[in-house]
Amino acid sequence: MRTLDELDARGKRVLVRADFNVPLQNGEVEDDTRIRASLPTVEHLLAQNATVVLMSHLGRPKGEDPAFRLRPVAFRLEELLRQPVTYVPFPPGSDQTYEVVRGLGPGVVALLENVRFEPGETKNDPELARRYARLGEAFVLDAFGSAHRAHASVVGVASLLPSYAGRLMEREVRALARLLQGYQRPYWVVLGGAKISDKIGVIQNLLNHVDGIAIGGAMAFTFIRAEGGEVGDSLVEEDKLEVARGILKAARDKGKPVLLPTDVVAAAEIREGVATQVVPAERIPAGLKGLDIGPETQKRFAEALSSAQTVFWNGPMGVFEVPPFDRGTLAVARAIAALEGAYTVVGGGDSVAAIHRLGLAKAFTHVSTGGGASLEFLEKGTLPGIEALGGLP
Ligand code: 3PG
Repeated sequence: MRTLDELDARGKRVLVRADFNVPLQNGEVEDDTRIRASLPTVEHLLAQNATVVLMSHLGRPKGEDPAFRLRPVAFRLEELLRQPVTYVPFPPGSDQTYEVVRGLGPGVVALLENVRFEPGETKNDPELARRYARLGEAFVLDAFGSAHRAHASVVGVASLLPSYAGRLMEREVRALARLLQGYQRPYWVVLGGAKISDKIGVIQNLLNHVDGIAIGGAMAFTFIRAEGGEVGDSLVEEDKLEVARGILKAARDKGKPVLLPTDVVAAAEIREGVATQVVPAERIPAGLKGLDIGPETQKRFAEALSSAQTVFWNGPMGVFEVPPFDRGTLAVARAIAALEGAYTVVGGGDSVAAIHRLGLAKAFTHVSTGGGASLEFLEKGTLPGIEALGGLP
Protein backbone atom coordinates (compact mmCIF):
# COMPACT_ATOMS: atom_id res chain seq x y z
CA MET A 1 0.00 0.00 0.00
CA ARG A 2 1.23 3.47 -0.81
CA THR A 3 0.69 5.82 2.13
CA LEU A 4 0.20 9.55 2.67
CA ASP A 5 3.98 9.87 3.17
CA GLU A 6 4.34 9.28 -0.57
CA LEU A 7 1.77 11.91 -1.58
CA ASP A 8 2.81 15.50 -2.15
CA ALA A 9 -0.64 17.00 -1.57
CA ARG A 10 0.47 20.65 -1.65
CA GLY A 11 -2.15 22.66 -3.48
CA LYS A 12 -3.82 19.52 -4.82
CA ARG A 13 -7.48 18.53 -4.73
CA VAL A 14 -7.58 15.21 -2.87
CA LEU A 15 -10.59 12.90 -2.92
CA VAL A 16 -10.84 10.95 0.36
CA ARG A 17 -13.12 7.94 0.91
CA ALA A 18 -13.89 7.81 4.63
CA ASP A 19 -16.25 5.51 6.54
CA PHE A 20 -18.78 7.89 8.10
CA ASN A 21 -21.36 5.13 8.47
CA VAL A 22 -22.28 6.29 11.98
CA PRO A 23 -25.43 5.83 14.06
CA LEU A 24 -27.84 8.81 13.92
CA GLN A 25 -30.45 9.70 16.52
CA ASN A 26 -33.02 12.44 15.89
CA GLY A 27 -30.97 13.76 13.00
CA GLU A 28 -27.75 13.98 15.01
CA VAL A 29 -24.64 11.84 15.15
CA GLU A 30 -24.99 9.51 18.12
CA ASP A 31 -21.45 8.09 18.11
CA ASP A 32 -18.72 10.07 16.35
CA THR A 33 -15.89 7.52 16.78
CA ARG A 34 -15.54 6.97 13.04
CA ILE A 35 -15.54 10.72 12.32
CA ARG A 36 -12.82 11.33 14.92
CA ALA A 37 -10.83 8.43 13.47
CA SER A 38 -10.65 10.24 10.11
CA LEU A 39 -9.17 13.45 11.57
CA PRO A 40 -5.46 12.53 11.31
CA THR A 41 -5.81 12.12 7.54
CA VAL A 42 -7.89 15.28 7.06
CA GLU A 43 -5.54 17.33 9.25
CA HIS A 44 -2.47 15.97 7.47
CA LEU A 45 -3.91 17.07 4.11
CA LEU A 46 -4.98 20.47 5.45
CA ALA A 47 -1.47 21.05 6.80
CA GLN A 48 -0.35 20.73 3.16
CA ASN A 49 -2.98 23.24 2.08
CA ALA A 50 -4.78 20.65 -0.02
CA THR A 51 -8.48 20.84 -0.93
CA VAL A 52 -10.04 17.90 0.91
CA VAL A 53 -13.09 16.31 -0.77
CA LEU A 54 -14.57 13.67 1.54
CA MET A 55 -17.06 11.00 0.54
CA SER A 56 -18.72 8.13 2.42
CA HIS A 57 -21.73 5.88 2.56
CA LEU A 58 -24.28 5.97 5.37
CA GLY A 59 -26.54 2.99 6.00
CA ARG A 60 -28.02 0.90 3.23
CA PRO A 61 -30.51 3.22 1.47
CA LYS A 62 -32.28 2.05 -1.64
CA GLY A 63 -31.61 5.09 -3.81
CA GLU A 64 -31.95 8.67 -2.56
CA ASP A 65 -33.52 8.81 0.89
CA PRO A 66 -33.57 11.91 3.14
CA ALA A 67 -33.06 9.74 6.26
CA PHE A 68 -29.58 8.83 4.99
CA ARG A 69 -28.22 12.28 4.12
CA LEU A 70 -24.74 13.11 5.36
CA ARG A 71 -25.57 16.63 6.59
CA PRO A 72 -25.41 15.63 10.31
CA VAL A 73 -21.93 14.23 9.69
CA ALA A 74 -20.86 17.53 8.08
CA PHE A 75 -22.03 19.41 11.20
CA ARG A 76 -20.12 17.12 13.54
CA LEU A 77 -17.02 17.25 11.36
CA GLU A 78 -17.12 21.06 11.47
CA GLU A 79 -17.18 20.96 15.27
CA LEU A 80 -14.28 18.52 15.45
CA LEU A 81 -12.14 20.31 12.85
CA ARG A 82 -13.10 23.76 14.09
CA GLN A 83 -13.44 24.98 10.55
CA PRO A 84 -16.34 25.17 8.09
CA VAL A 85 -17.17 22.09 6.02
CA THR A 86 -18.87 22.57 2.64
CA TYR A 87 -21.68 20.03 2.46
CA VAL A 88 -22.50 19.21 -1.17
CA PRO A 89 -26.10 17.93 -1.18
CA PHE A 90 -26.21 16.48 -4.73
CA PRO A 91 -25.59 12.89 -5.85
CA PRO A 92 -21.80 12.56 -5.60
CA GLY A 93 -21.29 11.48 -9.22
CA SER A 94 -23.46 14.29 -10.64
CA ASP A 95 -22.35 17.28 -12.72
CA GLN A 96 -23.72 19.58 -9.99
CA THR A 97 -21.29 18.04 -7.50
CA TYR A 98 -18.47 18.36 -10.02
CA GLU A 99 -19.24 22.08 -10.53
CA VAL A 100 -19.19 22.77 -6.77
CA VAL A 101 -15.98 20.81 -6.21
CA ARG A 102 -14.21 22.52 -9.12
CA GLY A 103 -14.77 25.87 -7.46
CA LEU A 104 -13.26 24.90 -4.06
CA GLY A 105 -9.99 26.55 -3.06
CA PRO A 106 -7.00 25.26 -1.09
CA GLY A 107 -7.47 24.58 2.62
CA VAL A 108 -11.20 23.89 2.12
CA VAL A 109 -12.93 20.73 3.38
CA ALA A 110 -16.03 19.46 1.55
CA LEU A 111 -18.27 16.50 2.31
CA LEU A 112 -20.18 14.93 -0.58
CA GLU A 113 -23.60 13.30 -0.29
CA ASN A 114 -24.06 9.57 0.47
CA VAL A 115 -22.35 7.50 -2.24
CA ARG A 116 -25.11 4.88 -1.92
CA PHE A 117 -27.56 7.37 -3.44
CA GLU A 118 -25.79 6.43 -6.68
CA PRO A 119 -27.24 3.21 -8.16
CA GLY A 120 -23.82 2.23 -9.58
CA GLU A 121 -21.96 2.51 -6.25
CA THR A 122 -22.34 -1.02 -4.89
CA LYS A 123 -22.05 -2.50 -8.41
CA ASN A 124 -18.66 -0.84 -8.83
CA ASP A 125 -19.93 0.77 -12.03
CA PRO A 126 -16.92 1.97 -14.08
CA GLU A 127 -18.76 5.04 -15.38
CA LEU A 128 -19.55 6.14 -11.82
CA ALA A 129 -15.93 5.54 -10.79
CA ARG A 130 -14.87 7.80 -13.69
CA ARG A 131 -17.26 10.50 -12.46
CA TYR A 132 -15.78 10.27 -8.96
CA ALA A 133 -12.27 10.43 -10.38
CA ARG A 134 -13.00 13.91 -11.85
CA LEU A 135 -13.33 15.19 -8.29
CA GLY A 136 -9.66 14.86 -7.29
CA GLU A 137 -6.10 14.75 -8.54
CA ALA A 138 -5.27 12.03 -6.02
CA PHE A 139 -7.36 9.50 -4.08
CA VAL A 140 -6.94 8.53 -0.43
CA LEU A 141 -8.72 5.47 0.93
CA ASP A 142 -9.22 5.89 4.67
CA ALA A 143 -12.47 3.90 5.01
CA PHE A 144 -11.07 0.82 6.71
CA GLY A 145 -14.59 -0.18 7.81
CA SER A 146 -15.64 -0.38 4.14
CA ALA A 147 -12.41 -1.78 2.67
CA HIS A 148 -14.07 -5.20 2.27
CA ARG A 149 -16.57 -3.67 -0.18
CA ALA A 150 -15.47 -3.73 -3.82
CA HIS A 151 -17.59 -0.65 -4.54
CA ALA A 152 -17.02 2.27 -6.92
CA SER A 153 -15.95 4.74 -4.20
CA VAL A 154 -13.57 2.21 -2.60
CA VAL A 155 -12.02 0.15 -5.37
CA GLY A 156 -13.27 1.56 -8.70
CA VAL A 157 -11.92 5.08 -8.29
CA ALA A 158 -8.60 3.80 -6.89
CA SER A 159 -7.67 2.36 -10.29
CA LEU A 160 -8.22 5.74 -11.99
CA LEU A 161 -6.20 8.11 -9.77
CA PRO A 162 -2.86 7.95 -7.94
CA SER A 163 -4.10 6.28 -4.75
CA TYR A 164 -2.87 6.13 -1.16
CA ALA A 165 -3.86 4.65 2.19
CA GLY A 166 -4.95 7.21 4.78
CA ARG A 167 -3.65 7.22 8.35
CA LEU A 168 -6.59 5.22 9.75
CA MET A 169 -6.30 2.61 7.02
CA GLU A 170 -2.58 2.23 7.78
CA ARG A 171 -3.12 1.98 11.53
CA GLU A 172 -5.90 -0.61 11.22
CA VAL A 173 -4.03 -2.82 8.76
CA ARG A 174 -0.88 -2.75 10.89
CA ALA A 175 -2.82 -3.62 14.07
CA LEU A 176 -4.81 -6.45 12.49
CA ALA A 177 -1.87 -7.92 10.58
CA ARG A 178 -0.29 -8.65 13.98
CA LEU A 179 -3.13 -11.10 14.60
CA LEU A 180 -1.99 -13.18 11.64
CA GLN A 181 1.77 -12.91 11.96
CA GLY A 182 4.29 -12.42 14.76
CA TYR A 183 1.72 -12.78 17.56
CA GLN A 184 2.55 -13.90 21.10
CA ARG A 185 0.87 -16.99 22.51
CA PRO A 186 -1.38 -18.08 24.16
CA TYR A 187 -3.66 -16.52 21.55
CA TRP A 188 -7.43 -16.57 22.14
CA VAL A 189 -10.33 -15.40 20.06
CA VAL A 190 -13.75 -14.51 21.46
CA LEU A 191 -16.60 -14.52 18.97
CA GLY A 192 -20.24 -13.67 19.43
CA GLY A 193 -23.18 -12.27 17.52
CA ALA A 194 -26.25 -13.80 16.00
CA LYS A 195 -25.03 -15.86 13.08
CA ILE A 196 -22.31 -18.38 12.45
CA SER A 197 -22.73 -17.77 8.71
CA ASP A 198 -20.85 -14.43 9.08
CA LYS A 199 -17.99 -16.09 10.94
CA ILE A 200 -17.34 -19.45 9.24
CA GLY A 201 -14.40 -18.25 7.13
CA VAL A 202 -12.74 -16.37 9.95
CA ILE A 203 -13.04 -19.31 12.36
CA GLN A 204 -11.58 -21.69 9.78
CA ASN A 205 -8.59 -19.44 9.18
CA LEU A 206 -8.02 -18.49 12.82
CA LEU A 207 -7.95 -22.16 13.86
CA ASN A 208 -4.55 -22.23 12.12
CA HIS A 209 -3.25 -19.53 14.47
CA VAL A 210 -5.00 -19.47 17.83
CA ASP A 211 -4.76 -21.62 20.95
CA GLY A 212 -8.50 -21.53 21.61
CA ILE A 213 -11.81 -19.94 20.68
CA ALA A 214 -14.59 -18.90 23.08
CA ILE A 215 -17.99 -18.60 21.44
CA GLY A 216 -21.00 -16.77 22.88
CA GLY A 217 -23.97 -14.93 21.42
CA ALA A 218 -26.79 -16.64 19.55
CA MET A 219 -24.27 -18.26 17.20
CA ALA A 220 -23.31 -20.57 20.08
CA PHE A 221 -26.73 -22.26 19.87
CA THR A 222 -26.06 -23.55 16.38
CA PHE A 223 -22.94 -25.27 17.76
CA ILE A 224 -24.75 -26.58 20.85
CA ARG A 225 -27.62 -27.89 18.71
CA ALA A 226 -25.12 -29.48 16.30
CA GLU A 227 -23.73 -31.45 19.24
CA GLY A 228 -27.22 -32.67 20.18
CA GLY A 229 -28.10 -30.08 22.86
CA GLU A 230 -31.68 -28.92 23.49
CA VAL A 231 -31.76 -25.17 23.03
CA GLY A 232 -35.48 -24.44 23.46
CA ASP A 233 -36.60 -21.51 21.31
CA SER A 234 -33.10 -20.08 20.92
CA LEU A 235 -31.96 -18.87 17.51
CA VAL A 236 -30.44 -21.73 15.50
CA GLU A 237 -29.27 -21.71 11.90
CA GLU A 238 -30.64 -25.11 10.92
CA ASP A 239 -28.86 -25.04 7.56
CA LYS A 240 -25.49 -24.52 9.27
CA LEU A 241 -25.54 -27.49 11.67
CA GLU A 242 -23.27 -29.51 9.40
CA VAL A 243 -20.84 -26.60 9.06
CA ALA A 244 -20.81 -26.20 12.84
CA ARG A 245 -20.01 -29.91 13.28
CA GLY A 246 -17.22 -29.55 10.74
CA ILE A 247 -15.69 -26.62 12.62
CA LEU A 248 -15.83 -28.45 15.95
CA LYS A 249 -14.21 -31.53 14.40
CA ALA A 250 -11.47 -29.45 12.75
CA ALA A 251 -10.76 -27.77 16.11
CA ARG A 252 -10.61 -31.15 17.89
CA ASP A 253 -8.30 -32.57 15.23
CA LYS A 254 -5.95 -29.63 15.76
CA GLY A 255 -6.23 -29.96 19.55
CA LYS A 256 -7.68 -26.44 19.88
CA PRO A 257 -10.39 -25.95 22.51
CA VAL A 258 -13.65 -24.34 21.42
CA LEU A 259 -15.42 -23.11 24.55
CA LEU A 260 -19.20 -22.95 24.28
CA PRO A 261 -21.56 -21.63 26.97
CA THR A 262 -22.44 -24.12 29.70
CA ASP A 263 -25.14 -21.89 31.20
CA VAL A 264 -27.29 -19.14 29.69
CA VAL A 265 -29.67 -16.43 30.81
CA ALA A 266 -32.98 -17.38 29.23
CA ALA A 267 -36.37 -15.67 28.91
CA ALA A 268 -39.60 -16.07 26.97
CA GLU A 269 -39.05 -12.85 25.04
CA ILE A 270 -36.56 -10.06 24.47
CA ARG A 271 -37.83 -7.23 26.64
CA GLU A 272 -36.39 -5.09 29.39
CA GLY A 273 -37.73 -6.23 32.76
CA VAL A 274 -38.86 -9.67 31.50
CA ALA A 275 -38.51 -12.62 33.97
CA THR A 276 -35.19 -14.45 33.40
CA GLN A 277 -33.73 -17.79 34.48
CA VAL A 278 -30.22 -19.17 34.37
CA VAL A 279 -30.41 -22.62 32.77
CA PRO A 280 -27.92 -25.18 31.40
CA ALA A 281 -27.05 -24.24 27.81
CA GLU A 282 -27.69 -27.77 26.58
CA ARG A 283 -31.08 -28.10 28.28
CA ILE A 284 -33.00 -24.91 27.62
CA PRO A 285 -36.72 -25.61 28.19
CA ALA A 286 -39.17 -25.18 25.30
CA GLY A 287 -40.73 -21.70 25.39
CA LEU A 288 -37.48 -20.07 26.53
CA LYS A 289 -34.62 -18.67 24.48
CA GLY A 290 -31.02 -18.18 25.54
CA LEU A 291 -30.32 -14.43 25.41
CA ASP A 292 -26.96 -14.10 27.17
CA ILE A 293 -24.15 -16.24 28.55
CA GLY A 294 -24.65 -17.15 32.20
CA PRO A 295 -22.42 -16.44 35.23
CA GLU A 296 -20.59 -19.79 35.11
CA THR A 297 -19.76 -19.26 31.42
CA GLN A 298 -18.55 -15.72 32.13
CA LYS A 299 -16.18 -17.20 34.70
CA ARG A 300 -14.95 -20.00 32.39
CA PHE A 301 -14.29 -17.56 29.55
CA ALA A 302 -12.44 -15.16 31.88
CA GLU A 303 -10.30 -18.04 33.22
CA ALA A 304 -9.40 -19.22 29.71
CA LEU A 305 -8.42 -15.68 28.74
CA SER A 306 -6.48 -14.95 31.90
CA SER A 307 -3.11 -16.19 30.57
CA ALA A 308 -3.60 -14.95 27.00
CA GLN A 309 -0.91 -12.78 25.43
CA THR A 310 -3.01 -12.05 22.32
CA VAL A 311 -6.79 -11.67 22.13
CA PHE A 312 -9.15 -10.76 19.31
CA TRP A 313 -12.78 -10.15 20.19
CA ASN A 314 -15.72 -9.63 17.84
CA GLY A 315 -19.42 -9.80 18.63
CA PRO A 316 -21.66 -9.54 21.71
CA MET A 317 -22.25 -12.46 24.07
CA GLY A 318 -25.98 -11.73 24.28
CA VAL A 319 -28.69 -9.28 23.28
CA PHE A 320 -26.44 -6.44 24.37
CA GLU A 321 -28.89 -3.63 23.58
CA VAL A 322 -31.56 -4.92 26.02
CA PRO A 323 -30.58 -5.11 29.72
CA PRO A 324 -30.08 -7.40 31.57
CA PHE A 325 -28.87 -9.36 28.52
CA ASP A 326 -25.82 -7.06 28.28
CA ARG A 327 -24.05 -8.54 31.30
CA GLY A 328 -22.14 -11.32 29.55
CA THR A 329 -20.76 -8.87 26.98
CA LEU A 330 -19.73 -6.42 29.70
CA ALA A 331 -18.06 -9.26 31.66
CA VAL A 332 -16.03 -10.30 28.61
CA ALA A 333 -15.04 -6.66 28.00
CA ARG A 334 -13.78 -6.41 31.61
CA ALA A 335 -11.93 -9.74 31.43
CA ILE A 336 -10.02 -8.72 28.29
CA ALA A 337 -9.34 -5.18 29.54
CA ALA A 338 -7.81 -6.65 32.71
CA LEU A 339 -5.07 -8.51 30.78
CA GLU A 340 -1.88 -6.66 31.52
CA GLY A 341 0.72 -6.53 28.78
CA ALA A 342 -1.40 -8.57 26.34
CA TYR A 343 -2.06 -7.54 22.73
CA THR A 344 -5.83 -7.03 22.64
CA VAL A 345 -7.94 -6.06 19.64
CA VAL A 346 -11.68 -5.55 19.47
CA GLY A 347 -13.83 -5.01 16.37
CA GLY A 348 -17.56 -4.83 15.63
CA GLY A 349 -20.31 -2.41 16.71
CA ASP A 350 -21.69 -3.99 19.90
CA SER A 351 -18.37 -5.18 21.33
CA VAL A 352 -16.89 -1.72 20.76
CA ALA A 353 -20.00 -0.08 22.26
CA ALA A 354 -19.57 -2.29 25.36
CA ILE A 355 -16.02 -1.16 26.00
CA HIS A 356 -16.97 2.48 25.42
CA ARG A 357 -19.87 2.13 27.84
CA LEU A 358 -17.46 0.85 30.49
CA GLY A 359 -14.85 3.50 29.65
CA LEU A 360 -12.37 0.70 28.87
CA ALA A 361 -11.29 1.64 25.33
CA LYS A 362 -7.84 2.72 26.54
CA ALA A 363 -7.28 -0.69 28.14
CA PHE A 364 -7.33 -2.33 24.67
CA THR A 365 -4.33 -2.21 22.36
CA HIS A 366 -6.50 -1.50 19.34
CA VAL A 367 -10.18 -0.71 18.89
CA SER A 368 -11.02 -1.33 15.25
CA THR A 369 -13.47 0.89 13.36
CA GLY A 370 -14.29 -2.11 11.17
CA GLY A 371 -16.69 -4.94 12.01
CA GLY A 372 -17.14 -6.93 8.80
CA ALA A 373 -13.88 -5.53 7.44
CA SER A 374 -11.80 -6.76 10.39
CA LEU A 375 -13.35 -10.24 10.14
CA GLU A 376 -12.75 -10.47 6.41
CA PHE A 377 -9.16 -9.30 6.87
CA LEU A 378 -8.56 -12.04 9.46
CA GLU A 379 -10.14 -14.58 7.13
CA LYS A 380 -8.28 -13.67 3.95
CA GLY A 381 -5.24 -11.69 5.09
CA THR A 382 -6.18 -8.83 2.75
CA LEU A 383 -9.19 -6.84 1.52
CA PRO A 384 -10.33 -5.47 -1.86
CA GLY A 385 -9.48 -1.93 -0.67
CA ILE A 386 -5.95 -2.98 0.32
CA GLU A 387 -5.41 -4.68 -3.03
CA ALA A 388 -6.66 -1.56 -4.83
CA LEU A 389 -3.83 0.36 -3.13
CA GLY A 390 -1.18 -2.10 -4.25
CA GLY A 391 -1.53 -4.83 -1.59
CA LEU A 392 -0.03 -5.28 1.86
CA PRO A 393 3.34 -3.66 2.56
C1 3PG B 1 -19.82 -1.12 8.59
O1 3PG B 1 -20.52 -0.42 9.35
O2 3PG B 1 -19.46 -2.28 8.89
C2 3PG B 1 -19.29 -0.50 7.34
O3 3PG B 1 -19.53 0.86 7.30
C3 3PG B 1 -19.79 -1.22 6.12
O4 3PG B 1 -21.17 -1.05 5.97
P1 3PG B 1 -21.99 -2.05 5.02
O5 3PG B 1 -21.98 -3.39 5.71
O6 3PG B 1 -23.35 -1.45 4.85
O7 3PG B 1 -21.22 -2.13 3.71
